[in-house]
Amino acid sequence: MVLLSVDTLPLERSDEIVLVRQAVRQRAIELGFSLLDQTKIVTAASELARNTIQHGGGGVALIESVNDGARRGLRLTFQDNGPGIPDIALAMKDGYTTAGGLGLGLSGAKRLSNEFDISSAPGQGTRVVIARWK
Ligand SMILES: Nc1ncnc2c1ncn2[C@@H]1O[C@H](COP(=O)(O)OP(=O)(O)OP(=O)(O)O)[C@@H](O)[C@H]1O
Ligand SMILES: [Mg+2]
Repeated sequence: MVLLSVDTLPLERSDEIVLVRQAVRQRAIELGFSLLDQTKIVTAASELARNTIQHGGGGVALIESVNDGARRGLRLTFQDNGPGIPDIALAMKDGYTTAGGLGLGLSGAKRLSNEFDISSAPGQGTRVVIARWK
C-alpha cells in the first residue's frame, strides 16, 4: 500500500465537521469517485467525525489517498483520547446509543465503507479507520 498524500484536520468543535466533509469530498473528487461514492464516504466521515467530538471529547481526522497497486482509494482515520468503548460489538449494533442518539453512526459508517476497523479500550481512546476504493 502506497500513501500518496495525507491531510490532518482537527476535530475539537462541531463546526469543524463541515471542514472535514469538504476535505473528504474534495479528495474523493480528485480520485475520480462517482457522485454516489463521494456521498457515501462523506456521510461515513460525517458520522465518525461527530462521534470523535461528541463521545471522544475531540481528536483528529486523517484523510489519506492510497494506492494498493491496482486501485486508488481514500482512507480516513478518526482518533481521540477520550473514554474509549468498553464493548465494541455492542456499540456497533444498530440502535445502540449511550447518548440518546439514533445509534446508527458506527454501523452506518461501516455499511458505507469497503473497509472498516475500530480499536478502542476504556481509558485509551478510540480509533476508527475506514477505506473506500475507486
Ligand atoms: N469515539 C468514541 N468514543 C467513545 N465512545 C464512542 C465513540 N464513538 C462511538 N461511541 C459509542 O458508541 C455508541 C454508538 O455510536 P453511534 O455513532 O452508532 O451512535 P450515536 O452516536 O449514539 O448516535 P447517532 O446515530 O446519532 O450517531 C455511542 O453512543 C457511544 O457510546
Ligand atoms: Mg454517532
